[in-house]
Amino acid sequence: MCGIVGYIGERRAIDVLLRGLKRLEYRGYDSAGVAIVDGHLKIYKKKGKVDDLSKELDIPNLLGRLGIGHTRWATHGIPNDVNAHPHVSSSGEFALVHNGIIENYTALRDRLIQRGYTFESETDTEVLVRLVEDVRETTGLPLEEALQQALRHVVGTYGIALVSGEDPDLLIAARKGSPLILGVGAGEYFLGSDAAPIIEYTRDVVYLNDGEMVVIRRDGYEVRTIDNIVLNKEVHHLEWDLEHIEKGGYPHFMLKEIFEQPTAIENAMRGRVCLDKNCIRLGGLLDDFETIRNARRVIICACGTSWHAALVGEYLIEGLARIPVEVEYASEFRYRQPIMRDGDIVFVISQSGETADTLAAVREAKRQEIPVFGICNTVGSTIARETDAGVYLHAGPEIGVASTKTFTGQVIVLAMLALELGRDRTLSDDTFTAYLQELGRIPEKIRAVLESDDLIRDIAQLYRYTSNFLYLGRGYNFPVALEGALKLKEISYIHAEGYPAAEMKHGPIALIDQFMPVVFVAIKDSTYDKIVSNIEEVVARKGHVIAITDEGNGQLDNLCEHVIRVPATEEFLSPLLTVIPLQLLSYHIAVMRGCDVDQPRNLAKSVTVE
Ligand code: G6P
Repeated sequence: MCGIVGYIGERRAIDVLLRGLKRLEYRGYDSAGVAIVDGHLKIYKKKGKVDDLSKELDIPNLLGRLGIGHTRWATHGIPNDVNAHPHVSSSGEFALVHNGIIENYTALRDRLIQRGYTFESETDTEVLVRLVEDVRETTGLPLEEALQQALRHVVGTYGIALVSGEDPDLLIAARKGSPLILGVGAGEYFLGSDAAPIIEYTRDVVYLNDGEMVVIRRDGYEVRTIDNIVLNKEVHHLEWDLEHIEKGGYPHFMLKEIFEQPTAIENAMRGRVCLDKNCIRLGGLLDDFETIRNARRVIICACGTSWHAALVGEYLIEGLARIPVEVEYASEFRYRQPIMRDGDIVFVISQSGETADTLAAVREAKRQEIPVFGICNTVGSTIARETDAGVYLHAGPEIGVASTKTFTGQVIVLAMLALELGRDRTLSDDTFTAYLQELGRIPEKIRAVLESDDLIRDIAQLYRYTSNFLYLGRGYNFPVALEGALKLKEISYIHAEGYPAAEMKHGPIALIDQFMPVVFVAIKDSTYDKIVSNIEEVVARKGHVIAITDEGNGQLDNLCEHVIRVPATEEFLSPLLTVIPLQLLSYHIAVMRGCDVDQPRNLAKSVTVE
């Protein structure tokens, strides 16, 4: 959702900016642009990807050592060169990049037009530029103070970076609602919407909070509130290294991340699933575990793939711990005056930890004084910092826009949580131990599923030109069906729907004919016999069936056109295995259709606007 990068130091800014923008491109790729300070402002911007911008640049002659860059996910105004950031003040004095939405931009724009300002673009960002300009012209304040004052008139969200052509020693950034990180190097400073553009230069970072800004000069930086109170901010040390954000020999990040799942799951369980001591230890929740254990109701809020993981969480926590769970789309939750009472707790799930709606759910829970816990992947993210406590996935950075390893990471965290909650509520010691042992075997079993990659590629070959797909599953695998359909939609642009298998006869069955492939998750669980009947119903109507079932189950071989097998496991852990073939199927189909797998059209990895 728009990526921002900034640099001030002794390196050539253009190199840092372009490398950084490439790393941030997963946040948006409608256009890219840079502003370099080199005697004066040099602005370059272009519709399309960072490579399209690079091709236009005379890179060897861009010598400035200060600059900002932006990769855009369009909100206001179509993707084109004019709407691309940076946006420049009418006088040409300063340039600004922005992530977020200025909600009152129409009112501000009207007022500025009355005051004689003109606009070139359709963006809300240009309104912000003119506003700063207006404050500066009427008050004569220094740029950082003019920005502060302008921001007091703004309703909405922003992550901003600003440079002046007249001051080669000034880089300013401000944040409200859109993430910004300051990287602290030796005599040089970096800005990033996340750590990805910073990590190859320094691991020391300062997280800006909402309502804060930073004024950076070559000899130091100062963090202030928008109200000009100087703050003393902690410098955090990041654990990631560069290898984590490179493709490592895979053609796409998505494939790399699919294949990283065994390791990602091991990392999520490390130090938490203690097989020798027969226990589960979720360190981040230890102090609050009594509150969680005694909860009358658990509400889980999330968006997208994380919402699907939340649905698996509902089955897990209700099934293993018998605590009532409600799963909410975070975007709906915040606006429908949710009723929460004493004894309720809220969990939010977010890979990025920055999703605007999920963050709003956190704030709504806090407003109602309900304990709120996070399950996040991105260390130091806003949601991780604003929740009362939480669990990190430790899946490593996920760059592919379509989530894969963080889905299984979220499910494994929820499984650990449900098991620990179930331990002294419903599960016998023997059952707990057996389940714990099985958790420990999951990474190996995922490795075994990944060996079906060739088979799945062959199946993808047959269905790559299909226009529609149906995904059906029951129980724990109903959310997996939803996730399989979402993956296909996201990256191959094929229309796909996920349904609980039994619901098929209440509508989707009307769609079934010889052109409709149907993916069934049909493992030998408590609903297996019922799902076989559903498969029969599809076959009777000439639908093509791709079934995911257990190793050793030959019953579906004559019934279904394709059978993909996964190792048998406990029913509650089966989503961790059954989702893998669906990820691979969507991946291969998308590649064969020539789609941009890692950066599908119109999507962004991190959705920091509503
Ligand atoms: C976007 C991404 C999805 C993701 C969703 C929620 O839509 O494209 O892949 O599932 O946001 O993101 P979060 O970071 O909160 O898990």
